[in-house]
Amino acid sequence: MNGRGKFITFEGGEGSGKSTHAAALADRLKARGLDVVLTREPGGSPGAEIIRHIILSGIAKPLGTETETILFAAARDDHVKATILPALQAGKWVISDRFVDSTRVYQGVVGKVDMKLIRALERVTVGADAMPDLTILIDVPANIGLARAKTRRGTGAADRFEAESVEFHEELRQAFLGLAAKEPKRFAVVDGRAPRDVVSERIWQTVEQRLLGERQPAEVAAP
Ligand code: TYD
Repeated sequence: MNGRGKFITFEGGEGSGKSTHAAALADRLKARGLDVVLTREPGGSPGAEIIRHIILSGIAKPLGTETETILFAAARDDHVKATILPALQAGKWVISDRFVDSTRVYQGVVGKVDMKLIRALERVTVGADAMPDLTILIDVPANIGLARAKTRRGTGAADRFEAESVEFHEELRQAFLGLAAKEPKRFAVVDGRAPRDVVSERIWQTVEQRLLGERQPAEVAAP
């Protein structure tokens, strides 16, 4: 029996390289013989993908930041129930590109939504069962991240959050760093300005030390 799988989340601003590194980590864990589910928010389950479209298209923006927060929570609730918990319970490792910390930062710190509402929604949607075992924060200055995101997008339109100012994105960055400082056991901050291979290696070392290292040798050797 495998026991419960591990849950890893990636957080960071636009153009931080989260998605690339989440996928690279998934490949590396699979190469170790682990069963891995790579997912993302908002989205990650059929119901949540519908809500993702509503939020990111910007059509819910006129309803206000509280309503957006509730929509993110509704999407998360479905994602946790339909995708994350079943996988963890089956012994799989789950990697999510964004999770609760994005709500705390985008809607809470920067959007000024009451933290009490955010925490209450977290208790309902995530509880204690679906809190990440490890959260990797890829930190890059806002101007660098936004420039990368723009290059990647080409001539396409900026989404709801990418369209905000550099100041908004720098505030996000500081808010993420603030969360990481408060929960050093769950978070690992990786400097995203380093070359991609270096960032990848630092992430891998963190996962090995914090999550693979804690397994007993007999368990690692088991098929
Ligand atoms: P996405 O296209 O997935 O971009 P990224 O590569 O930056 O993850 O867009 C997700 C956007 O939604 C991103 O701008 C952050 C925002 N977001 C929130 O504001 N709150 C949340 O709880 C989550 C999960 C995402």
